[in-house]
Amino acid sequence: MRTKMVAGNWKMNKNLQEGVALATELKEQVKNPTCEVVIGTPFIHLATVCELLKGSPIKVAAENCADKEKGAYTGEVSAEMVASTGAQYCILGHSERRAYYHETPEILKEKVLLALANGLKPIFCIGEVKEEREANIQNEVVKSQLEGSLFNLSAEDFGKITLAYEPVWAIGTGLTATPAQAQEIHAYIRSLIAAKYGEQVAQDTTILYGGSCNEKNAAELFANPDVDGGLIGGASLVAEKFTAIIAAR
Ligand code: PGA
Repeated sequence: MRTKMVAGNWKMNKNLQEGVALATELKEQVKNPTCEVVIGTPFIHLATVCELLKGSPIKVAAENCADKEKGAYTGEVSAEMVASTGAQYCILGHSERRAYYHETPEILKEKVLLALANGLKPIFCIGEVKEEREANIQNEVVKSQLEGSLFNLSAEDFGKITLAYEPVWAIGTGLTATPAQAQEIHAYIRSLIAAKYGEQVAQDTTILYGGSCNEKNAAELFANPDVDGGLIGGASLVAEKFTAIIAAR
């Protein structure tokens, strides 16, 4: 059975004290989850939050890492630095990074390789923008995103990837893909993995849905056979909402 997961993505929210307070609440409330629970925090929170969550089932993710190994790259944070905090996951390829920081498939390919080389498990985001959905080319978009950044990996390394399908038009907008839309494209993504790596790898790959997933709609999204959990932005910033989503998984 593939891993079911609920992952939070705090984005650029919460100062250190607020982040510690939220992680402390989650630690108290999430004791025996029936799925993998991950929180993605800003870089500066990682070391503190990882220390705080020792003994808790909750794992920690960075929201990004550098596309270079080390050296004179002022302001960047390497995958090795992320791993040294105790974080186990790294969100990569988020649409906000692609759109606002011009992260190309080639750059993301480098980031994935560096994350893996440092023992981090990438949570890799793919998904189409509104115009692409309207033109009904979402399948082509996710296919080229997978081919551009992940399908160079060996089957063994691909097995360390968690995918997150996040339609950009649904992120932070309150518009959610319908459960049927999510299932359809998740099944398509799984078929692409099967064609590339074989049926077993495809069946073992965790594919999360993200985009205005909240405590109200999570259960019906997660009820689909190819939706293995969620990547949660806004609703991960409130402990009660995030724990309700975990309970729905
Ligand atoms: P949202 O964000 O839940 O606020 O829509 C999801 C994401 O960007 O990962």
